[in-house]
Amino acid sequence: MKHVFNLLTCKGYLLLFLVFATGCRQNKGEEYYDIASLREVYSQSDTSLWPEPELDSLVDLNTFKDIGPLSKVKFPKENPFSEEKKKLGKLLFFDPRLSQSGQIACASCHNPELSWTDQITRSFGHNRQLNKRNSMPIKNTAYAEKLFWDGRASSLEHQAMFPIEDPKEMNNDLDTATQNIANVKGYASYFEEAFGDSTVTTERISKAIATYERTIVSRNSRFDRFVKGKKEALTDQQVLGLHLFRTKAHCINCHNTPYFSDGQFHNDGQTLWGSKHEDLGLYHQTKKAKDVGKFKTPTLREVSKTGPWMHHGHFPTMLDVLQFYNLGNPAPIQKRYLGTERDFILPKTSPILQKLELTDEEIEAVIAFLESLSTANLRVNTVRLPE
Ligand code: HEC
Ligand code: HEC
Repeated sequence: MKHVFNLLTCKGYLLLFLVFATGCRQNKGEEYYDIASLREVYSQSDTSLWPEPELDSLVDLNTFKDIGPLSKVKFPKENPFSEEKKKLGKLLFFDPRLSQSGQIACASCHNPELSWTDQITRSFGHNRQLNKRNSMPIKNTAYAEKLFWDGRASSLEHQAMFPIEDPKEMNNDLDTATQNIANVKGYASYFEEAFGDSTVTTERISKAIATYERTIVSRNSRFDRFVKGKKEALTDQQVLGLHLFRTKAHCINCHNTPYFSDGQFHNDGQTLWGSKHEDLGLYHQTKKAKDVGKFKTPTLREVSKTGPWMHHGHFPTMLDVLQFYNLGNPAPIQKRYLGTERDFILPKTSPILQKLELTDEEIEAVIAFLESLSTANLRVNTVRLPE
């Protein structure tokens, strides 16, 4: 127990004891009550040996998958990996000639030096228009089943076409964008090497970009090293944070699997209902009342580096995020539009979100754990675009 004492005040220690006592009561017994035991039990990749996660009854136990190290990226059969395709994809990712203005590349809003986002609340696009949503990081998108905050793209190949056409992003039509690339003589040899001949098509552009994106993955975060057996890779505080993440803080209900996302959509209580930034998320795609305000559970890998957070980017610090979750279901929607269609689509926050009663020390521990999911920003050499 001396680790715990080093970490926390006496009062914190008492609370901590209660947390573990309740967290573990129905689970695997008293041996996990102290950090040293937690460290022992979690630093093994067989998650069935870990303490049981505290899961809501809404979570499907048949499909639930615990957090853990990422597996190797799978490349789809229709678009297998090749070094040449990756090379071409990288050039295209950094090439502003895909945009109408010739000024905006994918990398403008997904900048490798800014953890593959732009680190602003909402992205600026064509003519410096403000986007509706916060830019998402590219790292680890290889593991996402659906893309975008509302999941409207089904693969990275599919996704790559959206920003080119989006009037607030690159504002081009696909044929013109493709023609712009075809007009660059220097690209011919890259297409030939990647696809067998030098024809430039929209499909080939999307396949090359997707291949490049699939190679951008987190390697061996401290969390990964820890669960693979490197017992000292996490601090005491992070070990506690990991345990809380899976138990008292309930994060595991949605941020699960080695990708730290269940790939589902949940209403996190953030539609900003009735305000000028209102965003009904998945509902915009499906028009079903049950989908109002649902957003894709984002991965938490690299998350400590990709702020500001949430689809609207309104949370500038991780403390804000944790305090938000700690309150559970936030205040019910007050603004009604009685007698109008809008009254049928009142956003309802997911019942999984409940008041957590995490102490300040516990909040800090979860934040410290999230930091262990980030890896160093590798320098990405800038490309010399073909002419
Ligand atoms: C003007 C800024 C901007 C540009 C340019 C841009 N993006 Fe994005 N990107 C965003 C924003 C904002 C989102 C989230 C939008 C949403 O969910 O509606 C996003 C989302 C994504 C996602 C989804 C990630 C996930 O986890 O679901 C991928 C992948 C992506 N962009 C790749 C690209 C590619 C490839 C290009 C170039 C062809 C590109 N982006 C150009 C701003 C931009
Ligand atoms: C009910 C499912 C659910 C639970 C439980 C949950 N989250 Fe989330 N989380 C989401 C969804 C959905 C979003 C995106 C919401 C949005 O942008 O409107 C999100 C967003 C986030 C973000 C912002 C990520 C980004 O890239 O902007 C962080 C950080 C986060 N969650 C951490 C946590 C932590 C820590 C916990 C536990 C205290 C937790 N979440 C519990 C579903 C959940």
